[in-house]
Amino acid sequence: MSAPAHPDSTDLDRLHSAVKREKEDLAPENRPAPLWATFLLMLVAIVAGAQLGPMTGGWSFDISNPFSIASGGGDPRPNDGIVGDTLDPFALAMKKGGSSYAMCGGCHGPTGLGNAGVAPPLAGSEYVTGGTERMIRILQHGITGPLTIKGQNYNIPNGMQPFGATMSAQDLANVLTFVRNSFGNEGTMITKEMVQKVRDEEKRASQWTDADLKPFAEKNVPGDIPAGPGATAAAAPAPAK
Ligand code: HEC
Repeated sequence: MSAPAHPDSTDLDRLHSAVKREKEDLAPENRPAPLWATFLLMLVAIVAGAQLGPMTGGWSFDISNPFSIASGGGDPRPNDGIVGDTLDPFALAMKKGGSSYAMCGGCHGPTGLGNAGVAPPLAGSEYVTGGTERMIRILQHGITGPLTIKGQNYNIPNGMQPFGATMSAQDLANVLTFVRNSFGNEGTMITKEMVQKVRDEEKRASQWTDADLKPFAEKNVPGDIPAGPGATAAAAPAPAK
């Protein structure tokens, strides 16, 4: 069978008539969805997914902690000190104090071992695990002059500047609690109220010296410590110097 003979018929017409026969124009209502609709659906899926994750407690994405997804959105550590979804006061102080420690670590070292000529160690230091009256005063007002830590003598020029004016009582309490319970140290929790008590009682404009601090070496600021690990952690007296 040959193509219908028509005066105007050309090869091109024949070709197209065959294509049209096999594949008709789509009815207008069957046209593919417009591109904008595709993108709209994608957007809805992304937004809905981002809502669904956190809402169901399955996961959430925190850009500052990319591992949060892998760890199921929670704290990857064992359940120590975690009551339900909230940290107990000691664990919270350790967490916040740990963040603040970054500024101490610049001098005292990330693991509290100190830096020759810059700052003495905090790990195993009797100033850290000793009386809280002394430790709070050291941070509140700074300290200068000779120190003996674990039998080693230190005397770093200009000493350490005070932190009392730049840190809140709560921030100071947190970082002191952290230092007393890190690097192998064990000590009771220092609370905001304890720091405040020293602040109210001790008005001092100059840095401490070790000699001035002697009366406070073994004394602990009175005050309630929330029940838990911070209350029991080695309430032992400071090692003799
Ligand atoms: C700019 C450096 C620097 C920074 C930052 C710093 N310290 Fe110190 N710190 C020193 C120096 C130096 C001494 C010793 C002073 C002396 O020789 O009398 C010292 C002494 C101490 C002591 C008593 C001695 C000892 O090693 O146990 C403690 C406790 C202490 N710092 C804790 C802290 C904490 C907690 C922070 C963070 C809030 C901090 N320091 C931040 C330099 C620093």
